[in-house]
Amino acid sequence: MAITKWIFLSLTMMMTLTLTLTHDQQVPCFFIFGDSQSDNGNNNPLITNAKADYRPYGIDFPGAVPTGRFTNGKNMADFLAELLGFSDSIPPFVAAQGSAILKGLNYASGAAGILDSSGINLGDRFCMNRQLQNHMATIDQIAALLGNQTAADIYLRQCLNVVNIGGNDYINNYYQPPPSSSSSLTPDAFADELIATFSLQLRSLYDLGSRKVAVFGVGLIGCIPQEISLYPITNGSPCVDSINIAAGLFNDRLVSLINDLNTNLPNAQFTYINVTSIALGGPSLIGVKVLDAPCCEVQKAGAAAGQCLPDGAVCGNRDEYIFFDNFHPTQISYSMMASRAYRASLPTDTSPVDIERLVRQ
Ligand SMILES: *[C@@H]1O[C@H](CO)[C@@H](O)[C@H](O)[C@H]1NC(C)=O
Ligand SMILES: *[C@@H]1O[C@H](CO)[C@@H](O)[C@H](O)[C@H]1NC(C)=O
Repeated sequence: MAITKWIFLSLTMMMTLTLTLTHDQQVPCFFIFGDSQSDNGNNNPLITNAKADYRPYGIDFPGAVPTGRFTNGKNMADFLAELLGFSDSIPPFVAAQGSAILKGLNYASGAAGILDSSGINLGDRFCMNRQLQNHMATIDQIAALLGNQTAADIYLRQCLNVVNIGGNDYINNYYQPPPSSSSSLTPDAFADELIATFSLQLRSLYDLGSRKVAVFGVGLIGCIPQEISLYPITNGSPCVDSINIAAGLFNDRLVSLINDLNTNLPNAQFTYINVTSIALGGPSLIGVKVLDAPCCEVQKAGAAAGQCLPDGAVCGNRDEYIFFDNFHPTQISYSMMASRAYRASLPTDTSPVDIERLVRQ
């Protein structure tokens, strides 16, 4: 696998990002559903080992403060909000108040999965079903703010929704050491189970009034330092190929699901973001050198193994690393992924449209 091509930020894309910042806000509202790749503080009050509210997380965030983002700086949701022209990041569900919710909320939660049970090894989390319940409560508030449900429905149709979840169903469920509830299934049967549940969840999102929905596939989770440290790698591959292949079974079904939703639900505008295409192909490689080791010193054992050691050592050249801890990308990696989800570089990056077109059509 051409892992040497793993996500690198090109100068061209940096310029894209800067230019877009000067544009007007492209949608009135932006809602985010997902896991630690998007969480910006929802896990802070929860009892869980999936937390990023301590240093060195946030070392490159404005003010150099930990916020609950699982990276050194901004995460994918932050960069997407910038690309969409929002002047601020979308607030976390747990901290949002009053009319601020009209611009959208971030429901994402570290360790969350499509299945309710995924991530339970780490503690409490807002799994996808709980995130949808939280969204229902938000919609009631929006209806109250706008006067009635009809006005809320008209409003919600214009919002962008991003769903980026599924990695924990593999990392913190299927590939957890036994006894995992799912590991007796074949990879095909497990992908089927995930898709059956995800189909209901994406339909609920539609039933709640969402029309523009970008759904990220699961990335190359067999290439993250944590899985490389846990599982043997074979055939000279830099990654645990079996894990990538299993996640690929889910992604293939997800593309079909999205086509079905677009065909069968009136005015549905779902689109698929192919994280594998973004990781493996496209623009040239600038600056990033370390592909398989984390930037921060990680916890070696215990329930939070693979996350940064509190107040531990951190690399100085953070823009040269793909990964910040054993699970999570650095902000430079997130910025690259957000740029190409927003404006595709390759035809395979998004299907049928990228987020820039999704919000305009
Ligand atoms: C709902 O609110 C909108 C805007 O405030 C108003 O124009 C409309 O008449 C209301 N509709 C109903 C059914 O009350
Ligand atoms: C995603 O992109 C990769 C690389 O271009 C391609 O091999 C794969 O078929 C795509 N996956 C899906 C589910 O479309």
